[in-house]
Amino acid sequence: MIRVGILTASDKGSRGEREDRSAVVISDSLRHIDGNVAAYKIVPDERELIAAALREMADDLALDLIFTTGGTGFSPRDVTPEATLAVVERLVPGIPEAIRAESMKITPRAMLTRGTAGIRGKTLIINLPGSPKAVAECLDVILQALPHGIEILKGQAGECARPEK
Ligand code: MTE
Repeated sequence: MIRVGILTASDKGSRGEREDRSAVVISDSLRHIDGNVAAYKIVPDERELIAAALREMADDLALDLIFTTGGTGFSPRDVTPEATLAVVERLVPGIPEAIRAESMKITPRAMLTRGTAGIRGKTLIINLPGSPKAVAECLDVILQALPHGIEILKGQAGECARPEK
């Protein structure tokens, strides 16, 4: 079982002015990777609050995987990638590269997400855009590769000789 945290960065969501449908999309998708939601939080688009929530989920709750949603665009309030970069120790560039490359086949606006991914301790942190549609599309690209990466991160697998389709 992969223990997953969902962190929504949204000014409106944090004030209760918008239903968090993106978190539901993430939660529903976890059946594909045998994951369960072990923590969920909405914070406003504030760099320090996002970073603090990521640290708590990684360090105190020792989650395997954290998805953020929202705050990856060009608005001055969009600071999720910066908060993520402040807490990760190692970058995982292949994940946002794959997300953008595949999403570009759906919409050229996919190039507008600045999302990143990285590792803090034994926790993989992945930024997703904010809209439920974008979240579903991005998860579709990356989900199948994640369990193997998480196994390696947890020291439960070191063998990559059998690549999965
Ligand atoms: N990626 C996919 N797959 N599908 C989308 O519809 N929307 C884009 C982009 N990535 C989109 C996508 C748009 S319009 C924006 S502005 C950016 O994600 C940033 O979104 P965010 O500010 O909600 O994080």
